Amino acid sequence: GAFYATQDVCTHEHAYLSDGVVVDCVVECPFHQGRFDIKSGKALGAPVIHALKTFPVEVVDGRIYVRVTPEEAAEGSS
Ligand code: FES
Repeated sequence: GAFYATQDVCTHEHAYLSDGVVVDCVVECPFHQGRFDIKSGKALGAPVIHALKTFPVEVVDGRIYVRVTPEEAAEGSS
Protein backbone atom coordinates (compact mmCIF):
# COMPACT_ATOMS: atom_id res chain seq x y z
CA GLY A 1 0.00 0.00 0.00
CA ALA A 2 2.99 2.35 -0.08
CA PHE A 3 5.82 3.19 -2.43
CA TYR A 4 9.50 3.58 -1.59
CA ALA A 5 12.51 4.46 -3.70
CA THR A 6 16.16 3.62 -3.12
CA GLN A 7 19.29 3.69 -5.19
CA ASP A 8 19.48 0.64 -7.45
CA VAL A 9 23.17 -0.23 -7.13
CA CYS A 10 24.17 -2.24 -4.07
CA THR A 11 26.53 -0.53 -1.61
CA HIS A 12 28.75 -3.64 -1.45
CA GLU A 13 29.73 -4.11 -5.10
CA HIS A 14 28.20 -3.24 -8.45
CA ALA A 15 25.01 -5.29 -8.53
CA TYR A 16 21.54 -4.06 -9.39
CA LEU A 17 19.05 -4.52 -6.59
CA SER A 18 16.27 -4.31 -9.16
CA ASP A 19 17.47 -7.80 -10.19
CA GLY A 20 17.12 -9.00 -6.59
CA VAL A 21 14.27 -10.50 -4.64
CA VAL A 22 11.89 -8.46 -2.49
CA VAL A 23 10.12 -10.06 0.47
CA ASP A 24 7.95 -7.77 2.56
CA CYS A 25 10.10 -4.60 2.97
CA VAL A 26 13.47 -6.27 2.41
CA VAL A 27 15.38 -6.45 -0.85
CA GLU A 28 18.07 -9.10 -1.27
CA CYS A 29 21.01 -8.41 -3.55
CA PRO A 30 21.45 -10.98 -6.35
CA PHE A 31 25.28 -11.11 -5.98
CA HIS A 32 26.03 -11.96 -2.34
CA GLN A 33 22.57 -11.91 -0.79
CA GLY A 34 23.14 -8.72 1.18
CA ARG A 35 19.82 -7.42 2.47
CA PHE A 36 18.44 -3.92 2.89
CA ASP A 37 15.31 -2.45 4.46
CA ILE A 38 13.55 -0.76 1.56
CA LYS A 39 11.84 1.83 3.79
CA SER A 40 14.97 3.14 5.49
CA GLY A 41 17.75 1.87 3.25
CA LYS A 42 19.41 0.30 6.30
CA ALA A 43 21.88 -2.49 5.65
CA LEU A 44 20.66 -5.55 7.55
CA GLY A 45 23.91 -7.47 7.90
CA ALA A 46 27.10 -8.73 6.29
CA PRO A 47 28.33 -8.43 3.66
CA VAL A 48 26.54 -5.09 3.36
CA ILE A 49 27.38 -2.43 5.93
CA HIS A 50 26.50 0.84 4.18
CA ALA A 51 22.89 1.95 3.85
CA LEU A 52 21.18 2.62 0.55
CA LYS A 53 20.27 6.15 -0.42
CA THR A 54 16.51 6.63 -0.19
CA PHE A 55 14.33 9.19 -1.96
CA PRO A 56 11.01 10.80 -1.02
CA VAL A 57 8.04 9.40 -2.93
CA GLU A 58 4.69 11.07 -3.50
CA VAL A 59 1.59 9.81 -5.31
CA VAL A 60 -0.43 12.53 -7.04
CA ASP A 61 -3.46 11.70 -9.17
CA GLY A 62 -2.30 8.11 -9.60
CA ARG A 63 1.21 9.07 -10.66
CA ILE A 64 4.26 8.21 -8.61
CA TYR A 65 6.84 10.94 -8.18
CA VAL A 66 10.33 10.36 -6.80
CA ARG A 67 12.18 13.47 -5.62
CA VAL A 68 15.83 13.57 -6.61
CA THR A 69 18.29 16.41 -6.86
CA PRO A 70 19.68 17.32 -10.30
CA GLU A 71 22.98 15.74 -9.22
CA GLU A 72 21.26 12.48 -8.22
CA ALA A 73 19.34 12.45 -11.50
CA ALA A 74 22.61 12.89 -13.42
CA GLU A 75 24.18 9.96 -11.49
CA GLY A 76 21.28 7.73 -12.49
CA SER A 77 21.56 8.58 -16.16
CA SER A 78 25.21 7.60 -16.51
FE1 FES B 1 25.33 -6.75 -3.17
FE2 FES B 1 27.60 -8.03 -2.69
S1 FES B 1 27.09 -6.85 -4.42
S2 FES B 1 25.83 -8.01 -1.49
